[in-house]
Amino acid sequence: MKELLSIQDLHLNFRTFWGMAYVLDGVNLTIYEDEVFGLVGETGCGKSVTSMSILKLLPSNAEVSGKIIFEGKNLLELSEKEMKKIRGRKISMVFQDPMSSLNPLFKIKAQMSDVIKLHHNISKEEALKKAKELLKAVNLPDPDRILESYPHQLSGGMRQRVMIALALSFNPSLLIADEPTTALDVTIQKQILDLILELKEQYHFSVLLITHDLGVVAETCDRVGVMYAGNMVEIADVEELFENPMHPYTQGLLSAIPDPRYKKPLKPLRGNVPSLLDPPKGCRFHPRCDFMMPVCKNKKPPLVEYSKTHYVACHLYGGNKNE
Ligand SMILES: Nc1ncnc2c1ncn2[C@@H]1O[C@H](COP(=O)(O)OP(=O)(O)OP(=O)(O)O)[C@@H](O)[C@H]1O
Ligand code: SF4
Ligand SMILES: [Mg+2]
Repeated sequence: MKELLSIQDLHLNFRTFWGMAYVLDGVNLTIYEDEVFGLVGETGCGKSVTSMSILKLLPSNAEVSGKIIFEGKNLLELSEKEMKKIRGRKISMVFQDPMSSLNPLFKIKAQMSDVIKLHHNISKEEALKKAKELLKAVNLPDPDRILESYPHQLSGGMRQRVMIALALSFNPSLLIADEPTTALDVTIQKQILDLILELKEQYHFSVLLITHDLGVVAETCDRVGVMYAGNMVEIADVEELFENPMHPYTQGLLSAIPDPRYKKPLKPLRGNVPSLLDPPKGCRFHPRCDFMMPVCKNKKPPLVEYSKTHYVACHLYGGNKNE
């Protein structure tokens, strides 16, 4: 497996009216070529800001440090000019709500051909031809009608297909999909996820799929990272995570969905997500953890390799129990 993108010790703070919010607390993850990596965790744990860090689309109140290595370069050190050659081209993104990315005032034709023309430096006619090809590639029937439509004349699923078509127009090596199907009906959700998988095989890109839905992870992803309050607490092959969840937080998450594959009985989660303005010291999960030990209150557990396909950040597995 060849590394495509590697996030190393990513810290992200936001200056807010109420003080500093310590949002990402040393996130590590590697995405390999040709894989679908799922990122899961409860609302507010930092999934979207992780992807925004990759694209360097963070607001001005953000303070970021660490490394995001892509094609041998640390993206965090690149200028905006250099980022423009990567963002939308080598790393593309689709969001939960395609309406927020499409301009309601312009027909799809204008929006697609403008983007394609600009980036590929080709004529309007050629750009329209390419737009039509891309709409066909995302299985939209009657591309001519779609091109003549305004965004509100299309269904949510169709709009998401248009966004995927646009995201593909530069042959990206990584597609970041942030809750791409959350706003859609269940049947359409499946179609869109299947489409992303089909296109991945055809165009050979990797996918960073952000979702809170473990069912989607099970069906779609090769590997998965579990985030809790700005930390990556467990990374594993999908089958392995479902069969042998190691981190108490992962066990709690999985306990909410009945699945005969779990070998051990899982404890449901108790308590609430902590405030990131004053996060718990040591392991951020310790106030909610039934296995808490004294060390957990003081020392942050590092993400360690349990096996080649399984990483976990928890003192239960790190040999620090007596500290
Ligand atoms: N511009 C900002 N200023 C201050 N805090 C922010 C800002 N953007 C995000 N945050 C905070 O960062 C944390 C992580 O947010 P993020 O949007 O990444 O969560 P998420 O895991 O994507 O959640 P969801 O599942 O709801 O999409 C949250 O606590 C959020 O309030
Ligand atoms: S490090 Fe300690 S508190 Fe954190 S999950 Fe592991 S056992 Fe629980
Ligand atoms: Mg989000």
